[in-house]
Amino acid sequence: MRTTSGYQAEGTPAVLERTTLERRDLRPDDIAVRVDHCGVCHTDLHALDAHSPGGLPLVPGHEFTGVVTEAGGEVTRFRPGDPVAVGNIVDSCGICPPCRAGQENFCREFPTLTYQGTDRHDGSTTLGGYSREYVVREAFAYPLPDGLDPAATAPLLCAGITVWEPLRSLGAGPDTRVAVAGLGGLGHLAVKLAVALGAETSVISRSADKAEDARRLGARDLVVSTDPAQVAAARDRFDIVIDTIATEHDLKPYLGMVAMDGTLSQVGYLGSSTVEMMDLLAGRKKLSSAGSGGRPATAELLRFCAEHGVTADVEVLPSARVAEAVDRLRRGDVRYRFVLDLSDLD
Ligand SMILES: NC(=O)c1ccc[n+]([C@@H]2O[C@H](COP(=O)([O-])OP(=O)(O)OC[C@H]3O[C@@H](n4cnc5c(N)ncnc54)[C@H](OP(=O)(O)O)[C@@H]3O)[C@@H](O)[C@H]2O)c1
Ligand SMILES: [Zn+2]
Ligand SMILES: [Zn+2]
Repeated sequence: MRTTSGYQAEGTPAVLERTTLERRDLRPDDIAVRVDHCGVCHTDLHALDAHSPGGLPLVPGHEFTGVVTEAGGEVTRFRPGDPVAVGNIVDSCGICPPCRAGQENFCREFPTLTYQGTDRHDGSTTLGGYSREYVVREAFAYPLPDGLDPAATAPLLCAGITVWEPLRSLGAGPDTRVAVAGLGGLGHLAVKLAVALGAETSVISRSADKAEDARRLGARDLVVSTDPAQVAAARDRFDIVIDTIATEHDLKPYLGMVAMDGTLSQVGYLGSSTVEMMDLLAGRKKLSSAGSGGRPATAELLRFCAEHGVTADVEVLPSARVAEAVDRLRRGDVRYRFVLDLSDLD
């Protein structure tokens, strides 16, 4: 075992405390990564809220960039010194049909998550990227493209890929009208990516406060979801609605804004929801979901972002201020992603 520093949840309600963490010694196909920047995802808040003393150890963080510091004997793609990015999946069975199709995110045995996952070899609980070092199979690490800011790139590895896969699989492009519901970490990247793909893009938000931001991000307009007149005016308007809203909500108004044969892709709230079939019947509408992405799509996203200069709008904080980041994200006070700079852990 080797040790590093990081932030682990303690107590009720869970508070992140700086502590010493253990990392495994490198296996032949592992790399060690010095974590420089890690995004603060709303999923980290959900995990903190669900955390109870005696439960699985929790070190959040599943979108990070850094530098390779060591490589196992069988590693072929990385050398010490290479800039690298890691997302929210760090292993999968590799042989089931989804894994063979490059959709490790849908592994039949469930992919190993970057934190609170179970390591497939030693059964230990994975500890996330709110730490100075992470040890990962090289297959689940991605070369950081030249020219992209490492801090602003970190959120692509969860927020970005989570909206990229549905945008791609639903065919977002020049002939489609896309709406993004919830302008947060996922949402602002969905807007940038949909715009870069050539789609006519709109935002659906709880108020008009983010209208100027929406336009700056490339959206043509913003529909206020709490204004029934605006929602009615947007009826049947969008071929694709990417719903990133972080809490439980009524899907009806969002389905109402989906065009005939269009799709509502619900990626934000992953609990159960009630749907009126008539809201799907009228217009042959589809309800879908997605989560994270496979290795090929993640590599494709990074290439696309390098080509189009797409990264997240970030507020970088020293990791010692992680509690402030968590608190402000909870209050919706970030435009649009906190990223922790972990160099202060040295
Ligand atoms: N499927 C996956 O694999 C996956 C991956 C990552 C994250 N997630 C989930 O996606 C969700 C969004 O994550 P995020 O990091 O983008 O969060 P975020 O930055 O907090 O953004 C969420 C947005 O949802 C809207 N919202 C928040 N509370 C709301 C409420 N009570 N009613 C209506 N709208 C509300 C807000 O948009 P407006 O201010 O514009 O209304 C907010 O900006 C989280 O639930 C997260 O767990 C899923
Ligand atoms: Zn995430
Ligand atoms: Zn599998």
